[in-house]
Amino acid sequence: MSDERYILRNARALAEGYLRASIREGDSVIDATMGNGGDTRLLCRLVGPSGHVTAFDVQPEALRSTKAKLEAEGLLDRATLILAGHETMGDHVAGPVQAVVFNFGWLPGADHAVTTRCETSLRAAEAALRLLAPDGIVSLCVYPGHEEGARELSALVRWSAGLPVREFNVLHHRFINAADSTPNLILIQKNVQSGTKRQQEI
Ligand SMILES: C[S@@+](CC[C@H](N)C(=O)[O-])C[C@H]1O[C@@H](n2cnc3c(N)ncnc32)[C@H](O)[C@@H]1O
Repeated sequence: MSDERYILRNARALAEGYLRASIREGDSVIDATMGNGGDTRLLCRLVGPSGHVTAFDVQPEALRSTKAKLEAEGLLDRATLILAGHETMGDHVAGPVQAVVFNFGWLPGADHAVTTRCETSLRAAEAALRLLAPDGIVSLCVYPGHEEGARELSALVRWSAGLPVREFNVLHHRFINAADSTPNLILIQKNVQSGTKRQQEI
């Protein structure tokens, strides 16, 4: 079976499907957790030569490895890599943006102590909503298999479940036949016409 059709492989694969459906050439988008640049590279491909990706991380290694990845594919001119916490995204990006992608946790292969933190993750998710274009999406991949990730998941679920239904549609994916530690995906889409009936009611 082709990888592309294995859509329920994991939370990241699910997120990718939604991002592919939502992002068009020329869009401006944000990678809120750059890491080793896998998501930044995907976003650069999706926005094409006329679009732009702004990516954040707090670790210089993340910027180095992402830069190398993008350079190798000639994608670097589509991206701005910023060494700063994602909770500051509103200071760096004017918006509107079509997508903001979060892949929480730590940099693979690096110190696990440098992980995303519940409080800043929530502030960043709030900042992302303020930058979102109508019909834009925020994708949140959350890893409850470690203590901080479990806190992050419950805080993000509580917060996103309380968002006004006239402004946002919120979907929570979790693999119900797998361990509780399995990554979850939360998606938030800004309603095209805030103030009208939400999509599910139409
Ligand atoms: C799971 S990794 C991201 C994986 C990445 N998207 C990829 O495709 O390789 C999570 C990243 O979040 C970063 N991080 C931690 N706190 C952060 C913050 N406040 N703002 C931005 N990035 C943060 C970590 O340094 C780590 O690189």
